[in-house]
Amino acid sequence: MRTQVAIIGAGPAGLLLGQLLHKQGIDNVIVERHTGEYVLGRIRAGVIEQVAVDLLDEAGVGSRMHAEGLVHDGTQICVEGVRHRVDFKALTGKTVMVYGQTEITKDLMDGRAAEGAPTIYSAYDVALHDIQGARPRVTFRKNGVGQEIECDFIAGCDGFHGISRKSVPPSAIANYERVYPFGWLGLLSDTPPVSDELIYVRSSLGFALCSMRSPTRSRYYLQCSLAEDVDSWPDERFWDELKLRLDDEARERLVTGASIEKSIAPLRSFVCEPMRFGRLFLAGDAAHIVPPTGAKGLNLAASDVQYLSRALVEHYRDKSEAGLDHYSERALLRVWKAERFSWWMTTLLHRLPDSDFEQKMQLAELDYLFRSKSASTAFAENYVGLPY
Ligand code: APR
Ligand code: PHB
Repeated sequence: MRTQVAIIGAGPAGLLLGQLLHKQGIDNVIVERHTGEYVLGRIRAGVIEQVAVDLLDEAGVGSRMHAEGLVHDGTQICVEGVRHRVDFKALTGKTVMVYGQTEITKDLMDGRAAEGAPTIYSAYDVALHDIQGARPRVTFRKNGVGQEIECDFIAGCDGFHGISRKSVPPSAIANYERVYPFGWLGLLSDTPPVSDELIYVRSSLGFALCSMRSPTRSRYYLQCSLAEDVDSWPDERFWDELKLRLDDEARERLVTGASIEKSIAPLRSFVCEPMRFGRLFLAGDAAHIVPPTGAKGLNLAASDVQYLSRALVEHYRDKSEAGLDHYSERALLRVWKAERFSWWMTTLLHRLPDSDFEQKMQLAELDYLFRSKSASTAFAENYVGLPY
């Protein structure tokens, strides 16, 4: 098989890149380890910045998002039972879109299928070859048969545990990482959201988040210990604990119900530098991870893909290498800003083990955030994705 760009991974990064390239007449094949159903079964965050909304429109897959997504003008932060609002629209003129990542992935998959662009699912033993040479290759097995793709470039969009980053010699890569000493226990339920806007909760019992997927589907999270077992959290226990962390109004309004998904996720910050190695370009979670507190994961993947797709178009159409040469540097500039924001928001709102001093610092910083217009504006700009 021969293609111009071989894309490893059919998550949001790989699918969006494939769609943008396809629209520009650049041939690409996606190789994915799992089945499409498996990929769609993963529940992830659902807050999208305007830049990512525009990119999904450019990829021709934005119509359902505009019809079903919820535009949010602001967000709420609850500190020890008292709720505060940050008005994104008033402070920055921008809003965010709340639309599940699962739905985005589905829209991208449907868009790709409609265009007839190839995705090879259930491919295993995926391996990258000659990434420093002029003719890189991707090999894999499918249904027991070995296959090979020759290409001009490889886009490593295979997430944090993928093979792409691991194919680079360790001496050529620098990794920066922080693992947080807590996780998030998430619950999805077909119940109306407790509020029209997301509520980020900082309580002495630990962080909580009230989010949503639609007017009838809610997503809630509780900070939990990494040793926690999801089986020891029956729905009743989850709701009882959430209520303890909420303010009075939210506690009264909360509609509980049976969970349709429950899982525990660790929190991690991670960046690898650079994001390009010869003809291999990393994008999305393959190159960086943010803790979910700032809702930046998908947005960062989208911004990588924007830079990379433009650079590849420049290469094929304008015969210019400038975009490809600057890809890593440009992407990382944006990545580190989102890493800083996600780390800051995580440290500000979670219960940190054994640290009375840090707790006082959190409360002082939160008070400043709500009282100072410049501090609120900085928060709002970072959350909506401005300026980069
Ligand atoms: N070979 C082929 N495919 C692989 C391999 C491999 N060796 N390893 C992983 N994959 C696939 C995974 O099965 C997955 O479908 O790559 C895909 C990576 O998708 P994501 O993990 O969703 O990563 P990305 O597309 O960068 O996502 C960016 O979406 O899931 C979120 O937290 C993520 O918000 C971030 C955003
Ligand atoms: C979610 O809806 O899953 C969600 C929203 C905002 C976040 C993290 C997760 O910051």
